[in-house]
Amino acid sequence: MCSKNMKELVENKKFLFFGGKGGVGKTTMAAATATWLSDQGYKTLIVATDPTISLSAIYEQEISETEVVPIESSQNLFGLNINPKKAMGVFQSRMEEMMQGFSTLFGSDLLSTPCTEEIAAFDQFVSYMGDTEHDKVVFDTAPTGHTLRELSMPFDWSGYIAKQIEARTEMSEALGFIYDENMIADLRKEKERYDAAVRALSDRETSAFNLVLLPEKLPVDETARAAEDLGEFGINVRSIIVNEVIPREVLQGNWFLERRRATQDKYLQEIESKFDNLIRSEVPLFETDIYGLQNLRKVGKALFGESS
Ligand SMILES: Nc1ncnc2c1ncn2[C@@H]1O[C@H](COP(=O)(O)OP(=O)(O)OP(=O)(O)O)[C@@H](O)[C@H]1O
Ligand SMILES: [Mg+2]
Repeated sequence: MCSKNMKELVENKKFLFFGGKGGVGKTTMAAATATWLSDQGYKTLIVATDPTISLSAIYEQEISETEVVPIESSQNLFGLNINPKKAMGVFQSRMEEMMQGFSTLFGSDLLSTPCTEEIAAFDQFVSYMGDTEHDKVVFDTAPTGHTLRELSMPFDWSGYIAKQIEARTEMSEALGFIYDENMIADLRKEKERYDAAVRALSDRETSAFNLVLLPEKLPVDETARAAEDLGEFGINVRSIIVNEVIPREVLQGNWFLERRRATQDKYLQEIESKFDNLIRSEVPLFETDIYGLQNLRKVGKALFGESS
């Protein structure tokens, strides 16, 4: 089931994010969307932050972990497959430095450093949110509310501590701490960077968040929670993509498939009522896995209709 609104949404926004639980089809939807957009003539960049170099597999071409490369099978399409384990961004090293400074002072138990990979991935989002070279930037794997919360935590902690120190020089003296203006200034700068990124993510004019899920109980519940969680950061999910819906035409009296489809129908209904204010699309379960341009275009057709 393609949605006219989905087509409008991706044509009207520059930054497109695909989130959802593991294995539900985020990379597939991101790649199908990027391929469709490039087929429409938009100069499109797809950025994946996945250590399994999934984009290379999907496009059947080596896609660099460090620089944007043209995807040869398609026009107007460029890709980058960042390995978050290797990407050591500015944000990350500064954050680690900053945290180290504070933990030396207060003990490491007091401050928790968020997961390195999450910081690295976020770092990449931040740098590509400023892109001016492409018409569209598609991000495979969006940050979750959990990630954003985790990333904001050191700012809350260290911001609080910094304020205490600033306000009470005698406290820092008592603690044997030499008050360092730079440390606080650095903290402020990183906080501003973080805030700017969250603002960009929540800018409805330029960005759209899409959540991918399967029509099953746990994914439906978790997607509702994920959308709520993002909402706390001012990020409104715009569309829901229900993936791997069993096509009716394959049922042909097969009791097993009919049972599965009936189960899916139950959750499709639930999705319709739970997310009635969002754009909803359905992508059928295909007879094979999805890679290569031809398959991606089939998914694109399910999402956006025929290419014009
Ligand atoms: N509609 C579909 N029909 C058939 N196979 C599908 C469909 N959607 C996705 N797949 C297959 O399911 C697998 C998982 O998809 P994908 O890699 O896109 O998920 P993901 O959410 O990105 O996973 P991860 O969380 O590991 O990054 C892939 O092998 C993909 O080809
Ligand atoms: Mg993936």
